Amino acid sequence: MVEQFKDRSHTIYHGDALEILTKEINSESVDLIFIDPPYNIGKQFSNFYDKWESEQDYIKWAYQWLNECIRVLKPNGTLYVMTSTQAMPYFDIYLREKIVILSRIIWHYDSSGVQATKYYGSLYEPILHCVKDKNNYIFNSDDIKVEAKTGAQRKLIDYRKSIPTQYNTEKVPGNVWYFPRVRYRMKEYENHPSQKPESLIERIILASSNEGYSVLDPFAGTFTVAAIAKKLGRSSISIESQKEYLKIGLRRVLGWQEYQGEKLVSVPKNNTRSHKISQKLDIIQGNLFNGDSTA
Ligand SMILES: C[S@@+](CC[C@H](N)C(=O)[O-])C[C@H]1O[C@@H](n2cnc3c(N)ncnc32)[C@H](O)[C@@H]1O
Repeated sequence: MVEQFKDRSHTIYHGDALEILTKEINSESVDLIFIDPPYNIGKQFSNFYDKWESEQDYIKWAYQWLNECIRVLKPNGTLYVMTSTQAMPYFDIYLREKIVILSRIIWHYDSSGVQATKYYGSLYEPILHCVKDKNNYIFNSDDIKVEAKTGAQRKLIDYRKSIPTQYNTEKVPGNVWYFPRVRYRMKEYENHPSQKPESLIERIILASSNEGYSVLDPFAGTFTVAAIAKKLGRSSISIESQKEYLKIGLRRVLGWQEYQGEKLVSVPKNNTRSHKISQKLDIIQGNLFNGDSTA
């Protein structure tokens, strides 16, 4: 069953991503797609358990929605896709035959201390940055500049210029991104085991779309993509299969305060809880976020 909720700029589908992509989204209609699917690593997403019978089954399923996403992407559009470190090589080899992979990005984060002790624990998740046409795509490098770590600190002067000027202290980020994972005490936290940071999503939307462009998120989770798209003046289409998370989207994206008689409120934060309880929660979350300690 597919349900649709919308306002002028934002559409939310409640249902299966593959079915909705296939039946509801027109070919070459979307400017930017951010795909953060289940990773096949055994996380519990409300009533959905993220583990397929075999890796081959997972890959076969993923290829179907990857094909659909390529179909709905505009000729000058951009697609970002994440998955586990284990599955990404399959995605990479599959996609390079169908689309242009411009960058292989590493999203790096630190752990809460709960890490593997018998091998090197996973502290990154891979992201592919792809476009349909390598000669025609959006990349707003000026909108995502970061402070350069070298040179800038010493305020070096470039004497080769006719009027000596300070070296530029900003640069376009490279392909290794550090963003802390979303934790309970952060303002943006929602009750979901795989919430991506707003800062990461903001970089992607700023770089690869302009105001008024459309952004599609087929596995919306906490609807962070749509919420940031809204903040930045883009339109959005989101798909999520779990009712628990749909409610987050209705609140964050469409501004609903109530759904089927239930008040929609953000996660209440008790800032007065003791240091001990905070530490315990962080450890539990560390376990949740680490899943089976692979990502
Ligand atoms: C990795 S999470 C996405 C997290 C999201 N990017 C965020 O920042 O909150 C994957 C989401 O896909 C949803 N999901 C799983 N199977 C689905 C399906 N067949 N169709 C649509 N959504 C699905 C899960 O409920 C989960 O919320």
